[in-house]
Amino acid sequence: MSIAGGHPLSGTVRAQGAKNAALPIMAASLLLSDSTLGVRRVPQLDDMTVMRKLLASLGIKIESRGEELYLTSPSELSWETPERLVRLMRASSLVLGPLLSRCGKAKLPLPGGCAIGSRPIDLHLKGFAKMGADITLEHGAVVATAKELRGCRIYLDFPSVGATENLMMAATLARGETLIENAAREPEITNLAEVLRSMGADIRGEGTGTIHVKGKRELQGSRVEVIPDRIEACTYLLAGIMTGGSVTVCDIIPEHMDALVAKLEEMGLEVLVEGKSVTVPSQKRGRGISLKALPYPGFPTDLQPQMTALLSLADGTSVIQDGVFESRFLHINELQKMGADIRMQGNAVVITGVPFLNGADVVATDLRAGAALVLAGLAAKEETRILNMGHVHRGYENLEEKFRSLGAQVKMLPDEFIPSSGENPSEED
Ligand code: EPZ
Repeated sequence: MSIAGGHPLSGTVRAQGAKNAALPIMAASLLLSDSTLGVRRVPQLDDMTVMRKLLASLGIKIESRGEELYLTSPSELSWETPERLVRLMRASSLVLGPLLSRCGKAKLPLPGGCAIGSRPIDLHLKGFAKMGADITLEHGAVVATAKELRGCRIYLDFPSVGATENLMMAATLARGETLIENAAREPEITNLAEVLRSMGADIRGEGTGTIHVKGKRELQGSRVEVIPDRIEACTYLLAGIMTGGSVTVCDIIPEHMDALVAKLEEMGLEVLVEGKSVTVPSQKRGRGISLKALPYPGFPTDLQPQMTALLSLADGTSVIQDGVFESRFLHINELQKMGADIRMQGNAVVITGVPFLNGADVVATDLRAGAALVLAGLAAKEETRILNMGHVHRGYENLEEKFRSLGAQVKMLPDEFIPSSGENPSEED
């Protein structure tokens, strides 16, 4: 992507459907037998295409009509996931729980680490084993088998989003009641629980950290909706602030953005919440703050890189830590190329605000690090060219179009553009 920076953005953008809610909701269609799940507000993203292909390879029939997707699950499913698809997207691991409880067996190549961390799935597997599954490793793939999953009490060592979603889905068809303690509380978990309930599941406690699931013999088809993407929406708000403009994001759930709003107010910035819209009016630079990314309702790790870009242009010093992915700092090097005064101190980032950033050739190493570089490029003087925008397109629908509608001067570059450093990053989600 090529960005001619320094133009204040203004206008309104509508939030897409949440990537991190749509993925597990689509996987939940595997829990059905001879019925259909209709899903509205599925974002048009590369990751959705991978999930569609993965589900189709397992036997799900997929039709899309406008913004709605229809996923029909047959009475017989395959339980082996194709390695070439699983390698493309970590979230493929979300089919394990539904497949295991629906088919009594599931096979998945073990996902490796990625740009933002080692990312094991041990908590998922420990939970399945507690429910009575046998877990074996065959040629780098995990094979889980269970004649019948039994409800039980599972305490998660860390409130993992993926483990909570996988175990909650598996428990819907298990015999008896499952209790998931220290469960993740993200809005995407609540959205999934509501979808499963509309399919006939007996779930309560989502969003509280303790989830109860009473297993059923079968679930039914339903028509459901994906919540707005809080991370995408917040990214556009930060673009408004960093360019000295005024941006509104509409058709969102403002409460999902409380952690960001609190930090922006701590910076001395004004944020207006009206109904299903949030606006950052055009205003002066904010002051430096400290923040630590934490599981919800803490400050989201998926906004940490974008916030690092914003704070590189704030008055004074800021300190950032990430309590979810401790080494999620690959964007630092790239921001330094643009003149940001940022240094690592142990597992913390120390930022001294600078008056402005300069355009440069930089590399997107992963989805949110790439988003941070787009924001920095929009604020910077002259031109910024970003390699590997494929990462960013995994999570942001119609990105160029949306930014252009706010007055940004951006254009796509052929991806074969190689910056002078010749770096080539890995995949993640
Ligand atoms: C989800 O990933 C999101 N992805 C991530 O968003 C997000 O960063 C993350 O939750 C945290 O909010 C999707 O929903 C598809 P975790 P997930 O399990 O489920 C450790 C984006 O930018 N852990 O909550 O993989 C893990 O290593 C992406 O949209 C274990 O140790 O995250 C990490 O340090 C990036 N063992 C921490 O827990 C496990 O079995 C949180 O991981 C599972 C996780």
